[in-house]
This record gives sequence, C-alpha cells and structure tokens, in this order.
Amino acid sequence: MNRVSRIRVAKVDKVKEGQTIKFSFHRNEKPQEGFVGLYQGKLFAYENTCRHIPITLDYGDNRFFDTEGKFIMCQTHGAIYEPDTGLCTRGPCAGASLYRLEIQEEDGILWFEEGSLS
Ligand code: FES
Repeated sequence: MNRVSRIRVAKVDKVKEGQTIKFSFHRNEKPQEGFVGLYQGKLFAYENTCRHIPITLDYGDNRFFDTEGKFIMCQTHGAIYEPDTGLCTRGPCAGASLYRLEIQEEDGILWFEEGSLS
C-alpha cells in the first residue's frame, strides 16, 4: 500500500527567481527527489529525473539552470528543458517532458502531496 503524506517543500518567499530548492518524497515507497523553482515570476516543480536516462538532472549540487538562467539543463549530457513547461527542446530526449509535480501554496508555505502522484 502506498503511503500518502504531505511534504513541506519551502517557504514561498525562499524561492527566488532563477533559483531552485530541492525536496524529497516517495513514489511507490521509493525515495525520489523533486525541485521547485521560479522562472519569470511563475513557480514550477519537477521530479529530478532526466528523460534521457533516469538519473538526476543535477550533480547533487542543486544546479538546474543553464548559465544564462533560461533553461533547465541536465548536467550529464546537456538536455535542455523549458522551465515553464518542462519540455525538452534540445538533446537526446527532445520532445519528452520532465515529470511535473503539483505544488500547493498555503499561508506562504509550499506543500507537495505524495498521494497526487500517479
Ligand atoms: S541523462 Fe540527461 S541528457 Fe542524458
């Protein structure tokens, strides 16, 4: 049976433009990592898994944006993803999308509900 719990991700005002915050959750009892970020004033959250090979996008260093801060980039083979849609527009997984995570804001806190995963 899947455990369902609500995870406190971050205070909303701690998520700064062009930056990301990582958090941990479980999918089917397996530990996973997600990250939330802000791009052009809009929050986004994705699972920290590249669509090319299922490894993390960062090297464990919370570096997701490219040097210009315009795209999310897989550090291993350089796949480029749009921050707002999660769509891979360049690289070995072009056309695939990052797994979006639904984040909810409540009283200035961002929450993620593991039960919302399929
Ligand atoms: S694992 Fe991300 S582009 Fe290859």
